[in-house]
Amino acid sequence: MPDLAIARALHVLAVVLWIGGVGMVTTVLLPAIRRAYPADQRFPLFHGLEQRFAGQARFTTLLAGVSGFYMVWRLEAWDRFRAAGFWWMHAMVCVWLVFTLMLFVIEPLFLERQLARRAAVAPEATYRLVEWLHRILLLLSLVTVAGAVAGSQGIDLFDW
Ligand code: HEM
Repeated sequence: MPDLAIARALHVLAVVLWIGGVGMVTTVLLPAIRRAYPADQRFPLFHGLEQRFAGQARFTTLLAGVSGFYMVWRLEAWDRFRAAGFWWMHAMVCVWLVFTLMLFVIEPLFLERQLARRAAVAPEATYRLVEWLHRILLLLSLVTVAGAVAGSQGIDLFDW
Protein backbone atom coordinates (compact mmCIF):
# COMPACT_ATOMS: atom_id res chain seq x y z
CA MET A 1 0.00 0.00 0.00
CA PRO A 2 2.69 2.63 0.78
CA ASP A 3 4.01 2.28 -2.78
CA LEU A 4 0.58 3.31 -4.10
CA ALA A 5 0.47 6.29 -1.74
CA ILE A 6 3.99 7.31 -2.83
CA ALA A 7 3.06 6.97 -6.53
CA ARG A 8 -0.08 9.08 -5.96
CA ALA A 9 1.89 11.75 -4.07
CA LEU A 10 4.55 11.92 -6.82
CA HIS A 11 1.80 12.02 -9.48
CA VAL A 12 0.01 14.94 -7.83
CA LEU A 13 3.30 16.82 -7.16
CA ALA A 14 4.30 16.44 -10.81
CA VAL A 15 0.86 17.61 -12.00
CA VAL A 16 0.88 20.61 -9.62
CA LEU A 17 4.30 21.81 -10.84
CA TRP A 18 3.58 21.12 -14.50
CA ILE A 19 -0.01 22.41 -14.90
CA GLY A 20 0.65 25.21 -12.39
CA GLY A 21 3.54 26.29 -14.64
CA VAL A 22 1.30 26.19 -17.71
CA GLY A 23 -1.20 28.37 -15.80
CA MET A 24 1.51 30.88 -14.88
CA VAL A 25 2.84 31.06 -18.45
CA THR A 26 -0.68 31.43 -19.91
CA THR A 27 -2.24 33.90 -17.48
CA VAL A 28 0.79 35.96 -16.38
CA LEU A 29 3.86 35.69 -18.62
CA LEU A 30 2.22 35.80 -22.08
CA PRO A 31 -0.13 38.76 -21.32
CA ALA A 32 2.66 40.68 -19.51
CA ILE A 33 4.99 40.37 -22.53
CA ARG A 34 2.14 41.37 -24.90
CA ARG A 35 1.48 44.54 -22.90
CA ALA A 36 5.10 45.56 -22.35
CA TYR A 37 6.81 44.84 -25.70
CA PRO A 38 6.25 45.69 -29.37
CA ALA A 39 5.00 42.81 -31.55
CA ASP A 40 8.36 41.96 -33.18
CA GLN A 41 10.12 41.50 -29.79
CA ARG A 42 7.43 39.37 -28.12
CA PHE A 43 8.02 35.90 -29.55
CA PRO A 44 11.86 35.85 -29.21
CA LEU A 45 11.57 37.12 -25.61
CA PHE A 46 8.83 34.64 -24.68
CA HIS A 47 10.70 31.78 -26.31
CA GLY A 48 13.88 32.58 -24.35
CA LEU A 49 12.02 32.74 -21.01
CA GLU A 50 9.94 29.63 -21.66
CA GLN A 51 13.01 27.48 -22.33
CA ARG A 52 13.71 27.10 -18.62
CA PHE A 53 10.14 26.01 -17.92
CA ALA A 54 10.26 23.57 -20.87
CA GLY A 55 13.13 21.72 -19.11
CA GLN A 56 11.10 21.42 -15.90
CA ALA A 57 7.98 20.41 -17.85
CA ARG A 58 9.90 17.56 -19.56
CA PHE A 59 10.84 16.19 -16.13
CA THR A 60 7.36 16.62 -14.59
CA THR A 61 5.52 15.07 -17.58
CA LEU A 62 7.86 12.06 -17.36
CA LEU A 63 7.22 11.74 -13.62
CA ALA A 64 3.43 12.11 -14.06
CA GLY A 65 3.46 9.46 -16.80
CA VAL A 66 5.58 6.91 -14.91
CA SER A 67 3.64 7.35 -11.63
CA GLY A 68 0.31 7.32 -13.51
CA PHE A 69 0.99 4.08 -15.39
CA TYR A 70 2.40 2.53 -12.21
CA MET A 71 -0.93 3.28 -10.46
CA VAL A 72 -2.95 1.81 -13.37
CA TRP A 73 -0.84 -1.36 -13.14
CA ARG A 74 -1.02 -1.54 -9.32
CA LEU A 75 -4.79 -0.88 -9.23
CA GLU A 76 -5.26 -3.35 -12.14
CA ALA A 77 -7.33 -0.59 -13.70
CA TRP A 78 -6.66 -1.21 -17.42
CA ASP A 79 -10.34 -2.05 -18.11
CA ARG A 80 -11.29 1.51 -17.10
CA PHE A 81 -10.08 2.53 -20.55
CA ARG A 82 -13.01 0.56 -22.00
CA ALA A 83 -15.67 2.43 -19.99
CA ALA A 84 -17.00 5.88 -21.03
CA GLY A 85 -17.70 6.72 -17.35
CA PHE A 86 -13.94 6.80 -16.85
CA TRP A 87 -13.57 9.63 -19.41
CA TRP A 88 -11.19 11.33 -16.96
CA MET A 89 -8.72 8.42 -17.30
CA HIS A 90 -8.79 8.92 -21.10
CA ALA A 91 -8.46 12.68 -20.56
CA MET A 92 -5.34 12.22 -18.38
CA VAL A 93 -3.63 10.05 -20.98
CA CYS A 94 -4.68 12.41 -23.83
CA VAL A 95 -3.37 15.55 -22.05
CA TRP A 96 -0.17 13.69 -21.18
CA LEU A 97 0.27 12.50 -24.79
CA VAL A 98 -0.28 15.98 -26.23
CA PHE A 99 2.31 17.54 -23.89
CA THR A 100 4.78 14.67 -24.31
CA LEU A 101 4.60 14.92 -28.12
CA MET A 102 4.87 18.72 -27.98
CA LEU A 103 7.81 18.80 -25.54
CA PHE A 104 9.84 15.86 -26.85
CA VAL A 105 9.00 15.63 -30.56
CA ILE A 106 6.98 18.37 -32.30
CA GLU A 107 8.57 21.46 -30.68
CA PRO A 108 12.26 20.50 -30.88
CA LEU A 109 11.94 18.93 -34.34
CA PHE A 110 10.04 21.61 -36.24
CA LEU A 111 7.45 23.75 -34.37
CA GLU A 112 10.12 25.94 -32.75
CA ARG A 113 11.75 26.82 -36.08
CA GLN A 114 8.37 27.13 -37.85
CA LEU A 115 7.06 29.60 -35.24
CA ALA A 116 10.29 31.63 -35.24
CA ARG A 117 10.09 31.94 -39.04
CA ARG A 118 6.40 32.87 -38.90
CA ALA A 119 7.04 35.39 -36.10
CA ALA A 120 9.62 37.17 -38.27
CA VAL A 121 7.01 37.92 -40.96
CA ALA A 122 3.75 38.03 -38.93
CA PRO A 123 4.68 38.77 -35.30
CA GLU A 124 1.24 39.90 -34.10
CA ALA A 125 -0.65 36.89 -35.49
CA THR A 126 2.03 34.41 -34.35
CA TYR A 127 1.98 35.71 -30.78
CA ARG A 128 -1.84 35.51 -30.76
CA LEU A 129 -1.63 31.90 -32.00
CA VAL A 130 0.85 31.01 -29.23
CA GLU A 131 -1.45 32.59 -26.64
CA TRP A 132 -4.51 30.66 -27.91
CA LEU A 133 -2.62 27.35 -27.99
CA HIS A 134 -1.65 27.87 -24.34
CA ARG A 135 -5.23 28.83 -23.35
CA ILE A 136 -6.69 25.70 -24.98
CA LEU A 137 -4.09 23.40 -23.38
CA LEU A 138 -4.63 25.01 -19.96
CA LEU A 139 -8.43 24.64 -20.19
CA LEU A 140 -8.16 20.95 -21.19
CA SER A 141 -5.65 20.35 -18.37
CA LEU A 142 -7.83 22.00 -15.71
CA VAL A 143 -10.97 20.08 -16.74
CA THR A 144 -8.84 16.91 -16.55
CA VAL A 145 -7.52 17.75 -13.07
CA ALA A 146 -11.06 18.44 -11.79
CA GLY A 147 -12.39 15.27 -13.47
CA ALA A 148 -9.58 13.12 -12.04
CA VAL A 149 -9.88 14.42 -8.47
CA ALA A 150 -13.68 13.82 -8.49
CA GLY A 151 -13.35 10.57 -10.48
CA SER A 152 -10.82 9.00 -8.11
CA GLN A 153 -13.46 9.56 -5.37
CA GLY A 154 -16.06 7.73 -7.49
CA ILE A 155 -17.86 10.91 -8.59
CA ASP A 156 -18.40 11.85 -12.24
CA LEU A 157 -17.94 15.60 -12.59
CA PHE A 158 -20.52 15.78 -15.38
CA ASP A 159 -23.06 13.27 -14.04
CA TRP A 160 -24.56 13.94 -10.59
C1 HEM B 1 0.06 8.77 -18.69
C2 HEM B 1 -0.78 9.60 -18.16
C3 HEM B 1 -1.51 9.37 -16.87
C4 HEM B 1 -1.91 8.21 -16.27
C5 HEM B 1 -1.69 6.78 -16.75
C6 HEM B 1 -2.60 8.56 -15.05
C7 HEM B 1 -3.14 7.68 -14.14
C8 HEM B 1 -3.75 8.01 -12.94
C9 HEM B 1 -4.31 7.06 -11.99
C10 HEM B 1 -4.31 5.55 -12.15
C11 HEM B 1 -4.80 7.78 -10.95
C12 HEM B 1 -5.48 7.20 -9.68
C13 HEM B 1 -6.95 7.06 -9.94
C14 HEM B 1 -7.68 6.43 -8.77
O1 HEM B 1 -7.27 6.60 -7.63
O2 HEM B 1 -8.73 5.80 -9.02
C15 HEM B 1 -4.58 9.18 -11.25
C16 HEM B 1 -4.95 10.22 -10.42
C17 HEM B 1 -4.88 11.54 -10.77
N1 HEM B 1 -4.29 12.05 -11.91
FE1 HEM B 1 -3.44 11.00 -13.42
N2 HEM B 1 -2.60 9.92 -14.94
C18 HEM B 1 -1.96 10.46 -16.03
C19 HEM B 1 -1.78 11.80 -16.32
C20 HEM B 1 -2.37 12.83 -15.62
C21 HEM B 1 -2.43 14.19 -16.05
C22 HEM B 1 -1.87 14.72 -17.37
C23 HEM B 1 -3.10 14.90 -15.09
C24 HEM B 1 -3.43 16.36 -15.05
C25 HEM B 1 -3.74 17.09 -16.09
C26 HEM B 1 -3.43 13.98 -14.04
C27 HEM B 1 -4.08 14.31 -12.87
C28 HEM B 1 -4.46 13.43 -11.89
C29 HEM B 1 -5.14 13.82 -10.68
C30 HEM B 1 -5.48 15.25 -10.24
C31 HEM B 1 -5.41 12.64 -9.97
C32 HEM B 1 -6.20 12.52 -8.67
C33 HEM B 1 -5.29 12.42 -7.48
C34 HEM B 1 -6.13 12.27 -6.22
O3 HEM B 1 -7.08 13.03 -6.02
O4 HEM B 1 -5.80 11.39 -5.43
N3 HEM B 1 -2.99 12.72 -14.40
N4 HEM B 1 -3.93 9.29 -12.44
